Amino acid sequence: MTLRTLDSLGDLRGKKVLVRCDFNVPLADSVITDDGRIRASLPTISRLRESGAKVIVLSHLGRPEGAPDERFSLAPAARRLGELLDAKVVLATDTVGPSAHESVSQMSDGDVVVLENVRFNSEETSKDDGERSSFAAQLAALGDAYVSDGFGVVHRKQASVIELAKALPSAAGLLIETELRVLERLTSSPERPYTVVLGGSKVSDKLGVISHLLPRVDTILIGGGMLYTFLAAQGFAVGSSLLERDQIETCRTYLEQAQRLGVAIVLPQDIVVASGFSADAEHVVVAADSMESTPFGAAGIGLDIGPAAAEIFAQHIAASKTVFWNGPAGVFEMPAFAHGTRRIASALADMSGFSVVGGGDSAAAVRALGFADSDFGHIATGGGASLEFLEGKTLPGLEVLGWQ
Ligand code: 3PG
Repeated sequence: MTLRTLDSLGDLRGKKVLVRCDFNVPLADSVITDDGRIRASLPTISRLRESGAKVIVLSHLGRPEGAPDERFSLAPAARRLGELLDAKVVLATDTVGPSAHESVSQMSDGDVVVLENVRFNSEETSKDDGERSSFAAQLAALGDAYVSDGFGVVHRKQASVIELAKALPSAAGLLIETELRVLERLTSSPERPYTVVLGGSKVSDKLGVISHLLPRVDTILIGGGMLYTFLAAQGFAVGSSLLERDQIETCRTYLEQAQRLGVAIVLPQDIVVASGFSADAEHVVVAADSMESTPFGAAGIGLDIGPAAAEIFAQHIAASKTVFWNGPAGVFEMPAFAHGTRRIASALADMSGFSVVGGGDSAAAVRALGFADSDFGHIATGGGASLEFLEGKTLPGLEVLGWQ
């Protein structure tokens, strides 16, 4: 891998270093429910503080509409960062305005300031190159150097990821280095058998990765919201489950392609079907080809893979030397529909090979279900970014750091 790393920035003592992190953490009533992404940023932030830099943290949180919105404030993340560093962390109440300038002007070497959500400024995500560049110039005015460490956003063409890296001397942080080392291991010479477990809700987001992975893996296990489109592609009725009709044909093509290549695409043989989308909905387990045979008829909605399928998935995982998992198998936030996700996580935790859990949702799922980070080979902080990397796409946020 070639990439400009921290050393390339030279002596940082006394320098103001802007660090783009991904503090896009899940919140419930302003309380962080999974701080994994903040923890993952600590090695870079600590290294910079030790080298005497003034550390100015940038991040987005959620998808605000280009204007300040209290619900997406980085205040909880800044507080948590202070607790984890056991140091004072100042939150500027704007990103490039008077509060940011005032906070930065008062910094001493080793201090940490978090700027408010970069997406409170519409230019951050603008499609207009000029707007993004002018916002990046305002950010650049706050610092002397730039470190990109938000692995979860390197697939985004946004001002604080791309244009800012061009506006200042820039390098990748330690988190990006770690994530890339793991993903390269998956793409270059994964130990076989290599199994990929896909779940989550958006079929269209993950179809690209399936086409790229089919010639490279031994088994693909499909769960989560995406599985119903695959069941529909096999001609089964799926009631009111999540279905992307315009992707049915593509799923059918993949099933045929897998057969030709001798790759197993494993779909669950049983499903937990509920009367509605709620934690206390009535639910039954049925065969995947009989989803409308429950008392709920066509109103039934699949919310988890069934227990028999979970065991089959666990057996495939146990027999693998490498497993990449992206996307929960069911609605794990509701205890009645968490079994499939929990069983996959426990199989990954028990396997003797190399396991990678990819993405914010899956990482939050395993932690919410009581697993420790050390139960897995690696927990990737970026879901979309990991998938696009595995798809073989060029990620703009890496390219700008000299990635080849
Ligand atoms: C993520 O959660 O995958 C990253 O933080 C990127 O967020 P985004 O999809 O809103 O750009």
